[in-house]
Amino acid sequence: MTSKSRWKLLAMLALVLVVMVWYSISREDRYIELFYFPIPEKREPCLQGEAERKASKIFGNYSRDQPIFLQLKDFFWVKTPSAYELPYGTKGSEDLLLRVLAITSYAMPESIQSLKCRRCVVVGNGHRLRNSSLGEAINKYDVVIRLNNAPVAGYEGDVGSKTTMRLFYPESAHFNPKVENNPDTLLVLVAFKAMDFHWIETILSDKKRVRKGFWKQPPLIWEVSPKQIRILNPFFMEIAADRLLSLPMQQPRKIKQKPTTGLLAITMALHFCDLVHIAGFGYPDVYNKKQTIHYYEQITLKSMAGSGHNVSQEALAIKRMLEIGVIKNLTYF
Ligand SMILES: *[C@@H]1O[C@H](CO)[C@@H](O)[C@H](O)[C@H]1NC(C)=O
Ligand SMILES: *[C@@H]1O[C@H](CO)[C@@H](O)[C@H](O)[C@H]1NC(C)=O
Ligand SMILES: *[C@@H]1O[C@H](CO)[C@@H](O)[C@H](O)[C@H]1NC(C)=O
Ligand SMILES: *[C@@H]1O[C@H](CO)[C@@H](O)[C@H](O)[C@H]1NC(C)=O
Repeated sequence: MTSKSRWKLLAMLALVLVVMVWYSISREDRYIELFYFPIPEKREPCLQGEAERKASKIFGNYSRDQPIFLQLKDFFWVKTPSAYELPYGTKGSEDLLLRVLAITSYAMPESIQSLKCRRCVVVGNGHRLRNSSLGEAINKYDVVIRLNNAPVAGYEGDVGSKTTMRLFYPESAHFNPKVENNPDTLLVLVAFKAMDFHWIETILSDKKRVRKGFWKQPPLIWEVSPKQIRILNPFFMEIAADRLLSLPMQQPRKIKQKPTTGLLAITMALHFCDLVHIAGFGYPDVYNKKQTIHYYEQITLKSMAGSGHNVSQEALAIKRMLEIGVIKNLTYF
């Protein structure tokens, strides 16, 4: 470079600088933009209504007026009785439900309700979360949905520490709810049978516990506030079973297949969020008999036998949603 062109370059740079300074001083807000570089928060762009639009390709045309949680007012005078019994509807459980809904709440917290665009992540319990270091990324979502008895304490680096909602049923409520949740976590009961309403009623109003009718002993003492409890609308179980798995709604007693809590949570999230990501979903191959399935305990696929869940069929449904871009995976699926 000759010294002449070097001077030219310097003069040009000086001119640019003078213009920048002049411009920024003339506009207070520009000044901030030019000289302070705010570290942009790396978050996914959120498009209002995007999940709903994409999900309609899979779920077809269905009413989105359904509330996420069951409300007392819908059971005082049962206007349109449910077509199905649990887990797909509330037929036959109305009286029990009335008592439960009278002592619990159904509102969505204002902090979530008021969001223009809701970014949600459904955190599965899968082994793939181990050593994933996804904790920080998970905590950044507006709504973090967790499942069953998945622990958080001791796994924060991989699974995060924020829990907006936890879907559970009595047999999967097996932990210290105070340690594994935030004080404002919504504990969302997924009822599979009428006994599940009975259990939550006895826990919350300290009535005599029921011990029969569960496939695994649920907690007899469960320290939660009734304000934290919500009852998931069984409508989502119906939609997941019917639209994602094509299960018959009326099944013979012996077959009784049903969606997992994970698939149910994705279905609910697609109804309520604008962006849905999943992490920790997926099971090992059926031949892989030694591989543990959860990030926190040493059980294998064998433990799923007789659970009424068809994990290979669910995997196909989730693959389809990933392919269409209805949901996105944060861990390998
Ligand atoms: C969905 O159903 C509603 C009412 O049943 C109807 O008005 C609407 O046109 C339908 N939309 C599509 C895309 O089929
Ligand atoms: C996770 O990391 C620890 C320590 O680096 C290692 O011992 C362990 O084998 C890893 N677990 C998995 C499942 O990769
Ligand atoms: C589970 O789903 C797969 C794939 O749809 C199917 O081939 C298989 O027969 C199902 N298993 C049971 C036990 O229904
Ligand atoms: C999502 O899953 C696909 C395979 O289905 C995989 O190739 C991709 O790496 C996964 N994404 C992430 C972020 O793990």
